[in-house]
Amino acid sequence: MSSRPPAVPVRYEPVFERPEPDEAETTRALVETMRKIQEKTFEDGGHALRSVHAKSHALLQGELEVLVGLPPHLAQGLAAKPGRYPVVMRLSTIPGDILDDNVSTPRGLAIKVVGVQGERLHGSEGHNTQDFVLVNAPAFLKSDAKSFLKSLKLLAATTDKAPGLKKVLSSVLQGVEKVIESAGGQSPTIMSMGGHPETHPLGETYYSQVPVLWGEYMAKVAVAPIAPELTVLTKKAVDIDGMPNGLREAVAEHFARRGGTWELRVQLCTNLEEMPIEDAKVVWPEERSPYVAVARIRVAAQPSWTAARADAVDDRMSFSPWHGLAAHRPIGSVMRVRKAAYEAARAFRESRNQQPVDEPRVLENLPG
Ligand code: HEM
Repeated sequence: MSSRPPAVPVRYEPVFERPEPDEAETTRALVETMRKIQEKTFEDGGHALRSVHAKSHALLQGELEVLVGLPPHLAQGLAAKPGRYPVVMRLSTIPGDILDDNVSTPRGLAIKVVGVQGERLHGSEGHNTQDFVLVNAPAFLKSDAKSFLKSLKLLAATTDKAPGLKKVLSSVLQGVEKVIESAGGQSPTIMSMGGHPETHPLGETYYSQVPVLWGEYMAKVAVAPIAPELTVLTKKAVDIDGMPNGLREAVAEHFARRGGTWELRVQLCTNLEEMPIEDAKVVWPEERSPYVAVARIRVAAQPSWTAARADAVDDRMSFSPWHGLAAHRPIGSVMRVRKAAYEAARAFRESRNQQPVDEPRVLENLPG
């Protein structure tokens, strides 16, 4: 029997957040580096893209249902009371340029929940959305914003330079990744440079990696597939040989005939030493605090990617952890700097593409 008392979620206190004295300078440099990526891809393609996660593989609409009977520490913010909300989901991969899918990188999932009521985050007033911006690994590749800036500068230097070279690099790195995996570990840096295994995006579990407030508490958030038609795809390799948009095609093949169900899960911080707020690289141990379901997301069969959807979602929407309720304020170094970075990237796309990028108030049907 464990000698530890049952874990109780820690209530948030402002002293848990410790911004570095030069955080404003780090934020400025991150915004500048990301803008350079956007300028480069705009110069080459004549269309403004996201500085990271530029390529979408699916643009889906569905419904989120908050579960009934949640205990008080989970029934917070969006999950405070049972309800159903329309959602948009955008599946992506990390690079800031549109590469062939055999440059294999981590997968992203952005979710926009529409129609949420409650006190808003600073900068998100007047809207009614709650976004979750997730990647398929439980922690961030760097501890804080400053060390992330260093690796971003490296990546930025490769933007649109030599897609052919990136493909070679990716297949070499995938080999290296297999060796590391067989030795029992995964290297986030290698994976972000193109060594991610070529897995099916619909089988993956996606994580916030860094914490948000969960009402009075602090939590990481995850979205995990639960429908058997999705879990059968977990860790399944997709054969995309000779298919530059193979991931998009694999997802489209699925949604042409089937739907999918995911759980939105929350991992509450129960111990600040093991589950730190300021160190983004630490995986919060699930044996101390498991991810627990607070909502379900259901998506019916649909055309999962079309040019008209790309116009509506890739170009006219933006997703940010800072779009949402004050009850889900992003916390910690990486989260704090993301506010300005996402806002600047959105503004660049809006001005260069000369079309508004705004929060939907109601979710009309996405085009087919
Ligand atoms: C300091 C750290 C980070 C910075 C500066 C950063 C910055 C950005 C920027 C500027 C965008 C493009 C936004 C747009 O054009 O609308 C973006 C997109 C994205 N980021 Fe981050 N990010 C960071 C950390 C993370 C983390 C921790 C995750 C998830 C675990 C994440 C997941 C994503 C995803 C999935 C997208 C695509 C969103 C979409 O589909 O619109 N990022 N990021």
